[in-house]
Amino acid sequence: MRVLIFETSELAVDRVVRAVVEQIERKPASILGLATGGTMEPVYDGLSAAYRSGSVSLAGVTSFNLDEYVGLSPEHSCSFAAFMREKLFDRTDMRSNRANLPVGNAVDPDAEAARYDALISELGPIDLQLLGIGANGHIGFNEPTSSLRSRTRVKTLTRATLEANKRFFADGETPPKYAITVGIQNILEAKSILLLATGSAKAKAVATMIEGPLGSYCPATALQMHADTTIVLDREAAAELTLTDYYSQVHPDGQDAPYG
Ligand code: GLP
Repeated sequence: MRVLIFETSELAVDRVVRAVVEQIERKPASILGLATGGTMEPVYDGLSAAYRSGSVSLAGVTSFNLDEYVGLSPEHSCSFAAFMREKLFDRTDMRSNRANLPVGNAVDPDAEAARYDALISELGPIDLQLLGIGANGHIGFNEPTSSLRSRTRVKTLTRATLEANKRFFADGETPPKYAITVGIQNILEAKSILLLATGSAKAKAVATMIEGPLGSYCPATALQMHADTTIVLDREAAAELTLTDYYSQVHPDGQDAPYG
């Protein structure tokens, strides 16, 4: 794991935006794994700004989002499909027919999960997988005790996750209790992984992910098994790490330090 610690969340976000832009520059037909959540909003703002300024085009990109709520149609305003259109797709030249998400209101959610898994296998591997992290250590919607070998399937959301995400739903609206999510094995099959965490609410999960023992109680610890994972943090999210001095020695201010 490369652990990059930045003084502010803005600098951390800039680093992630730059990594995505560089990935698309290297390979315009990149396959990106995309995440939702509040942490990703400034990343998508940055990518949209990069598109507007002419620094990047998403016209050749194919994307696979991590997850979608069971029961919500892609048109539902609280669906992750709507989130992605609003935050990224409609603000760039991303081709809608190459932007993939599980269909939340599919008649048979298990069959939809299998379809989505097969499509990723057919078109993949994903070149760059973007991730956030839940305060309980989930990635995608792989809640604690998810199999570290899991593939795309329906997961029951924890009460804590429902509570954390209810802010995206209107008053009186009940957030769905289930989601279709890619599995941890799918995530580990990406060629490279870039996880962004900002703010003190993520500090405990971040410390366990990086320094804790591998185990499904904190699903993000599975990233310890991936050979090309970069964790981008702001100072607050890094607050509970033990080896901070070492990470800063290897990557001072989040930069790549030359040998010697
Ligand atoms: C969500 C998503 C995750 C995301 C996490 C954290 O519900 N399924 O992909 O990383 O929870 O979200 P936030 O960035 O809003 O804290």
